[in-house]
Amino acid sequence: MPADVIAIDGPAASGKSTIAKGIAKKLDAAFVSTGAMYRAVAWKAINAGIDPDKVDEKALRKVLDSLQMSYEPAPGGSKELMVDGQFLAHELRSPEVSANASKLATLPIVRERMAALQRAMAGRGLIVMEGRDIGTVVFPDAKYKFFLTASPMERARRRLAQEGESKDGATVESVAKEIEERDCLDMSRAIAPLKKADDATLVDSSGMQVEEVLQKILEEIKSR
Ligand code: DC
Repeated sequence: MPADVIAIDGPAASGKSTIAKGIAKKLDAAFVSTGAMYRAVAWKAINAGIDPDKVDEKALRKVLDSLQMSYEPAPGGSKELMVDGQFLAHELRSPEVSANASKLATLPIVRERMAALQRAMAGRGLIVMEGRDIGTVVFPDAKYKFFLTASPMERARRRLAQEGESKDGATVESVAKEIEERDCLDMSRAIAPLKKADDATLVDSSGMQVEEVLQKILEEIKSR
């Protein structure tokens, strides 16, 4: 039996990971952050000295061919993304990795590899997968689709509150500008751009607490 997929897409810093993890916990489902996967590509590409603005395709192919990713039980008990044998939660959230992930995510070879891996990760049972193109490209037939967003200023405030995710001396305005640049790149790329699937439920979480958003999504899932 194929997996039942709950797709949660949306722009940068819209709270997708928090909400997708919360839904997975409440429904005892598997969780996959596809953003973390693109970030892992960027992290490994940085270590290999690849310039995201002038990509050496041969070097990038080598990075992709050798990159190992899977969800494994972490010391805290939950399953986390393991990248080449390491849990890199902190490293993957740096501003440099964020910016490079968006740039590398425009490349066909990166998108093809990630989509194939994401489809392979959905084995059996229920899975909550969050990203930009899950409901539109990776799993267009997903049983449940949500598009999560929030106002640009609220997203900037949330991002700034996460330690280690903004540059030193960053302000709400500077973070809002960076988020806007990333959204623009994610929405304007030729392949699998960020956009709401026609059949996805729009959830604007501006001014809402995490628990309220979770309840709204769970109600929608249960109503089907
Ligand atoms: O969700 P995030 O901020 O961790 O994602 C980091 C970058 O990865 C994002 O700017 C674009 C890219 N990405 C993508 O292109 N497709 C996805 N499904 C998920 C992320």
